[in-house]
Amino acid sequence: MIFKHDTVIVGAGLAGLRAALEAADVADVAVVSKVYPTRSHSGAAQGGIGAALGNEEPDSWEWHMYDTVKGSDYLADQDAAEVLAKDAARAIYELEHMGVPFSRTAEGTIAQRAFGGHTRNFGEGPIKRACYAADRTGRVVMDTLFGQAERRGMKVYSEFQLLDLLIRDGRAVGIIVYDIAKGEVHVIHARTVLLATGGFGKLYRVTSNCAANTGDGVFLAYSAGIPLQDMEFVQFHPTGIYGLGVLISEAARGEGGVLLNGEGQRFMEHYAPTIKDLAPRDMVSRAIMTEIAEGRGIDGKDYVNLDLTHLGKARIMEKLWDIASFTRIYLGIDVAEAPIPVCPTCHYMMGGIPTNVDGQVLDAASSIVPGLYAAGECACISVHGANRLGCNSLLDLVVFGRRAGRKIAADLKQIEWIDLPTKSEEHLVGKIAELKERKIGVKASHLRADMQNLMTDCCSVFRTKDDLEAALNAVAELKEQYQEVAVDDKGFVFNTDVLEALELESLLTLAEVTLISALAREESRGAHFRQDFPERDDENWLKHTLVRKTGDGPQVSFKPVTITRFQPKPRTY
Ligand code: FUM
Repeated sequence: MIFKHDTVIVGAGLAGLRAALEAADVADVAVVSKVYPTRSHSGAAQGGIGAALGNEEPDSWEWHMYDTVKGSDYLADQDAAEVLAKDAARAIYELEHMGVPFSRTAEGTIAQRAFGGHTRNFGEGPIKRACYAADRTGRVVMDTLFGQAERRGMKVYSEFQLLDLLIRDGRAVGIIVYDIAKGEVHVIHARTVLLATGGFGKLYRVTSNCAANTGDGVFLAYSAGIPLQDMEFVQFHPTGIYGLGVLISEAARGEGGVLLNGEGQRFMEHYAPTIKDLAPRDMVSRAIMTEIAEGRGIDGKDYVNLDLTHLGKARIMEKLWDIASFTRIYLGIDVAEAPIPVCPTCHYMMGGIPTNVDGQVLDAASSIVPGLYAAGECACISVHGANRLGCNSLLDLVVFGRRAGRKIAADLKQIEWIDLPTKSEEHLVGKIAELKERKIGVKASHLRADMQNLMTDCCSVFRTKDDLEAALNAVAELKEQYQEVAVDDKGFVFNTDVLEALELESLLTLAEVTLISALAREESRGAHFRQDFPERDDENWLKHTLVRKTGDGPQVSFKPVTITRFQPKPRTY
C-alpha cells in the first residue's frame, strides 16, 4: 500500500515526539516506530535533563555552554552548543507546563542535582544543573510528550520497521516500511522526512541500549550517499552493572555515590582532583579501565564498586528508587547495604547524520539535502563533539527536536508534492523473499555476536591501530558471510528472525564506518583514546571526520569545527 502524509517522522523517542508536536498544528504528521512508541529508548534515560535554572545555587547558560564545549574536548560546534545552553531553561519550563512531573525543592521549584562535567563559574567545582524526576526522567518526559502528540492527532505507525529512504532528484520524498505484525512492505509518501531513529549501541556486546538501537536511520542515510560524521566517538558510560551493562545513572554519583577500587580507595581523586567522581564520562571510564588493568579491580577482577551505602535508605528511596529496585532484581543487592559492581557500558553515539541547528541534513559539501531532516542521537549537529556530558542528551532531544519540527512546519509552506520513484518497494519485497527462501546459511545472531565481540575487544575505551585494523578486516569478512544469512522462520507474523537479519546489515555497515573513522583519527580526544597517539593534537585534528559511501568504497574527509567563545585549552578537572 501507499500511505500519504505531509511529513513522516521515523522514531517515537523524545526527538521524534517533540518534532511531531511542533509540526502537528499545521500539517498531517505520521510517526513511524519500530516499537510501541512509549517503549522507545528515551524512556530508559534516568538521571536528568540539564538547564541552568539556578534553583539550587546560582547558575548561568554561559557556564553550561562552557562545560558542554570543554566536555566535548573542544570538538563541539560552539554555535550549536550556545543554542543548546541558551534554550535550555525555556525548554524545561515548557515541559513543566505540558505536565512533566519533575521532582521539587522544599520551596516547590524544580529540583536539580549534580551531574558529570557540569560546573560553576567555568570549572570551579560541581554544580546542581540536572532537572529530574527521581531516576526515571526520560520515562516521564516521554509519557508526557506522547500524550500531547496524541492530543494533536498525530498518526502513529506502531511496530513498523524502516526499510529504506526514498530520494528523488536529490529530495527526500518518503520511506519504505515493514509492518512487523503482518510481514507486509508499504510505502509512505511524504513531502518531508525526519529521521529520529536513535543510536546504535547494539554494535557492542555490553551496552545500556535497548535491543531496538540498531542504527537503521543512520545506515540508510549513509546508503543514500550522505556522509556520517564523527563516528569514532562512542560514549562508554562508566557505571553499567557488571556483566549486564544495565545503566546505573550518573545521578547516583550526583547524589553522593563514590567509586571504589579493590583497595577500597576513592580512585577518582587521583584522576580528577577538583570534581572527582563527577568528571566527564570519558575520563571516568578510562580511570576505571586503568584501575582494572593495573590490578586494582575488585578482587583483581574486571570491575570496580559504586558505593551508595552512606547515602541512607530514605534518600535512596526518594531519589534513586528505580536503581534500588532493579539492582535488587538483577543482582539481589540492597544498595543501602552493599556496593554495586560496575564497569563501563556502551551508552551513546556522539556521531551520526550531519545536520545544521534546524535539523536539516547536510551532504558532503555541507549543502542542505531538501526534504530530509534528522534529530536526536542519530543526528550529529555537532553539539556533543568528542564526548557528551550527562543530562545534555534529553536536552538535545527536546531543544533540537522542536527546532527540526518548527523548520519542517515552515518548509512545508513551500515544499510541493513530487511523485515517488516507480516501484520503489519491489527490490525490498524481493530481498525479504530471497532471505526466507534461502535453505542453508549462517544465522544473523552468530554474525552479530562476532561483530559485537570484535567491537568490544578492539574499539572501546582504549584503541590501537593494530586492533582497529584487525577488526576492520574481520568486519569485512562478516559482511561477506552476511550475503549467506538464512532465517528459520519463514512466516509473516512478528517474524523477528527476518528483522534481526535486516538490522544486522545496518550494524555491520556502521561497525565498518566506526572503525574507519577511529583508524583515521591519529590523536586522542574525548571518548576516542588511541594508545598509540595518547595526546590531543589540535594542530592537526581539531576537525570533524566524515565518511561517505562511494563506488570505490568508504571515503574519509574532514570539515572544520565552529569555534566562537572558547578557545581549546588542556582539559583538566
Ligand atoms: O546517567 C544517566 O542518568 C544518563 C544520562 C544521560 O546519558 O544523559
